[in-house]
Amino acid sequence: MSSSDYPSSPFQIPTYRLAYTFTKPSYPPSTSIHRSELEYLPPSEDEITIEVAAAGLNPVDIQMSNFWLFNWQKTNVEKGVGQDYSGVVIAAGTQAIIDHPHFTVGTPVFGLHITAGTGSSDATLSTHLNLNPSLPASSCILPLPQPLSFTDAASIPLVWLTSYTALVEYGLLDTTATSKNAASTLVILGASGGTGSYAVQIAKKLLGVGTVVAVCSGKNEKFVRGLGADEIVDYTKETVLEGLRRLRPEGGYTFIYDCVGGTEIVYEYQSLLDWGGGGFCTIVGDKHDRSEVGGSFTNLLYPIQPLRTFLGWLGLRPRYHCINLSPSLSYFAPILSMLQKGTLEIPIEGVFPFTDKGVEDAFRTLDGGRSRGKVVVSVRELKERVD
Ligand SMILES: NC(=O)c1ccc[n+]([C@@H]2O[C@H](COP(=O)([O-])OP(=O)(O)OC[C@H]3O[C@@H](n4cnc5c(N)ncnc54)[C@H](OP(=O)(O)O)[C@@H]3O)[C@@H](O)[C@H]2O)c1
Repeated sequence: MSSSDYPSSPFQIPTYRLAYTFTKPSYPPSTSIHRSELEYLPPSEDEITIEVAAAGLNPVDIQMSNFWLFNWQKTNVEKGVGQDYSGVVIAAGTQAIIDHPHFTVGTPVFGLHITAGTGSSDATLSTHLNLNPSLPASSCILPLPQPLSFTDAASIPLVWLTSYTALVEYGLLDTTATSKNAASTLVILGASGGTGSYAVQIAKKLLGVGTVVAVCSGKNEKFVRGLGADEIVDYTKETVLEGLRRLRPEGGYTFIYDCVGGTEIVYEYQSLLDWGGGGFCTIVGDKHDRSEVGGSFTNLLYPIQPLRTFLGWLGLRPRYHCINLSPSLSYFAPILSMLQKGTLEIPIEGVFPFTDKGVEDAFRTLDGGRSRGKVVVSVRELKERVD
């Protein structure tokens, strides 16, 4: 059996699947991630099998393929890459059919399947994916709504959930536009990337935040204003701190959402924020290297981070949080309403083919750190509606 034998026709149970995987971590991604032929295992009774149409890539996929903890693993097991997907259900276990009757065979779906840190080979950059929708790590799955394409759908879940978590859980913004939200001034660091571009939209189009200050390079100013940003700090023309001091409202910013990380402004957030409830939330942490794991994991590596959180909790300074996304299915609901209203922009930097070169180019683009929106791999052409 060779890769050139694949694919058989779509929507059939395969004997094997193709996936991009790694065994030992290394960097850049092209040195670790390779194409593998893996045995296709039918779904267990709680699982469904999805034939993957498209997989969205995220910086965490690079970070995992370089994650030093995997060096301790003695065996050379293939570990999968990718958390975001869209595709069609082609098989379901007996219990899964009972528990999730809306995911019958033939249903187009999209969602998030969190494998980061587990070393599982069942990740989304694969022709087929087995998952259990009852488990929290795979519970964010929805039937594909019209008019969403497979490519667009695969680009949304992880970054949407991350920014929604940050703004609603930690920004303490109301989930609908209220006068409180309208009085808020929100800063988004890294507003043109995957997470940032949805944060701008969630803030302006969904939550009705009064003022959004977006930090990005000048080349992305028009793009970010088009998503709804009111003010721009171009970090190539002035330092972020200078820009944020220049635009700081009387009383301070309500919330700073950091999608870039590092320490450029973290020692100054106290002077920028409103002390009467303001907060700083980072999804990266103090680390500077994009190839290393970020989010709440960094609270272990940088003890000053939990100390900041503690001081905020005591009320001795504004709140500080270094977080991960919450995989909450209800957070997807606003996507559907925005799609219906036609207000959701789905920014995509590029769609790459499911070939060695395509996957390498996709990771190189993502790793460059300058993507406008998302990087997606088109795994297989599938019909969006299976009749
Ligand atoms: N904790 C979690 O649960 C979680 C979830 C998702 C992501 N993350 C992390 O969050 C970070 C962002 O993820 P992402 O998907 O948004 O990444 P991304 O799409 O690759 O971000 C690329 C964007 O970053 C911008 N950028 C780069 N340097 C910048 C700077 N100094 N200031 C402002 N903008 C800058 C670029 O804009 P310009 O070209 O304009 O510079 C580009 O638009 C990553 O480190 C990722 O690992 C964490």
